[in-house]
Amino acid sequence: MRLKDKRAFITGAGNGIGKATAELFAKEGASVAVVDVDESAAETVADGINASGGKAVTIRADVTSEQDVIDAVAKAQDELGPINVLHNHAGILPPGDASILDIEERTIDIALAINIKGMMLVGKHIARAMRDSGSGGAIVNTASDLSIIALAGLCSYVTSKTAIPGLTRSMATDLAEFGIRVNAVSPGFTYTNMTAGIADNDEIMGPMKETYLLKQLGQPIDIAHCVLFLASDEAAFVTGAALTVDGGHVVT
Ligand SMILES: NC(=O)c1ccc[n+]([C@@H]2O[C@H](COP(=O)([O-])OP(=O)(O)OC[C@H]3O[C@@H](n4cnc5c(N)ncnc54)[C@H](O)[C@@H]3O)[C@@H](O)[C@H]2O)c1
Repeated sequence: MRLKDKRAFITGAGNGIGKATAELFAKEGASVAVVDVDESAAETVADGINASGGKAVTIRADVTSEQDVIDAVAKAQDELGPINVLHNHAGILPPGDASILDIEERTIDIALAINIKGMMLVGKHIARAMRDSGSGGAIVNTASDLSIIALAGLCSYVTSKTAIPGLTRSMATDLAEFGIRVNAVSPGFTYTNMTAGIADNDEIMGPMKETYLLKQLGQPIDIAHCVLFLASDEAAFVTGAALTVDGGHVVT
């Protein structure tokens, strides 16, 4: 088992990619804090892990609230012990996202609050906990293929996700002395609730698939496997990197 005896904290774990990571980490021997603003979704995931013989706890937290994050880290450590793996994943495609010509202030605020500030707050408090434990750790931030290329009409999303490889390099630089590695995954289109609004639209999906070298789009488990690699000791010599997991999208 690749995460035997590890204790993992996963945000946005109630659905989609975060859920797949939580379930995979548990199968690989980690005990898991399933953290989400949607408590009932988190509870369903944690219950499923516990029913399959794994160990998981449900934690409700809004990553944009520093107090929620502080309380969530404390609860996770009380129930599981010192956290040594983080998948810093919670994020959204902001409703009403638009071109720079039409972007509204509230859309910018939501994108920056959840996709950047939330990731920084979780990164800060988990990194402090890892430093204080004295035994290091591994952090994986979720960026996006849209941190490398842009798509029309998604100005606030593209901008917010482009910050994540920079945050990852900054955290890797600040935390190396404490034995903490920090990397990012940059997923391409993946079938989750976030993309459900366009998954049934053949006019968008048909041409989109053509731009993926592998002629297929992602499933949450495809991303989770790469998060697992970066979180595991197999990636012991990897820090500050962003791993693109996109079926070859950005190279076309
Ligand atoms: N699905 C894709 O195609 C794709 C591609 C690249 C990157 N991503 C990234 O993946 C993340 C979205 O995950 P998903 O695609 O599995 O979507 P999803 O909507 O299925 O899951 C996102 C989860 O995050 C939770 N969440 C949202 N705001 C939160 C907050 N403020 N505090 C705590 N939890 C919160 C939601 O409740 C939900 O459970 C984002 O970071 C997004 O940028 C997704």
